[in-house]
Amino acid sequence: MSDTAHEIPPSAKLDPTKPTVARIYDASLGGKDHYEVDRQVFEMIKQVAPYQGDVSKMNRRFLVRVVRYLTEIAGMDQYLDLGSGLPTVQNTHEVAQFSNPEARVVYVDIDPICNVHGRALLEENEFTRFVEGDLTKPETILGHPEITGHLDLDQPLVLMQIGTLHHVADEEDPVGIMRAYIDALP
Ligand SMILES: C[S@@+](CC[C@H](N)C(=O)[O-])C[C@H]1O[C@@H](n2cnc3c(N)ncnc32)[C@H](O)[C@@H]1O
Repeated sequence: MSDTAHEIPPSAKLDPTKPTVARIYDASLGGKDHYEVDRQVFEMIKQVAPYQGDVSKMNRRFLVRVVRYLTEIAGMDQYLDLGSGLPTVQNTHEVAQFSNPEARVVYVDIDPICNVHGRALLEENEFTRFVEGDLTKPETILGHPEITGHLDLDQPLVLMQIGTLHHVADEEDPVGIMRAYIDALP
């Protein structure tokens, strides 16, 4: 376990012996919400992709620039952030709500640890929600009561798939999944 990983709240669903994408990504960003097993996998990744840490950080900068542009310039005020990951610095809601404090954001991730940390972060943010869900199931996501209750899916909406689809195997039909999301956008 990393020096600070003991801060991860206990949950029956969290297994510190199995690496997860969200925790490995956190390790690659230099975060502290991961276990030793996640760091070991990140070390293995670095053996074949030595600059993966830089790639992760550039990916976050891309996310921040996109959300800032869409909020400030394009005037978008609803965000569905799929595969959002663990909270880090400059999360989607922080960037969007910096220029529009009432911008609505729903984070979705399959890894329960994202929810545990996300909800703790958002205790006092009435415009943001965290939902545990599988982005490969568009009908379930788009019909999820917490999502439909917080976002108006008939109004312009930013659907974010950043650093996610390479985790969806060909057999799961990533093209079909994206088609379903795109067809559902107003
Ligand atoms: C590389 S991280 C990207 C995080 C964030 N979107 C970013 O760009 O900084 C990928 C995230 O996708 C999540 N993820 C992978 N497969 C998923 C699925 N089927 N449904 C929901 N989330 C998924 C992982 O748990 C992880 O948090």
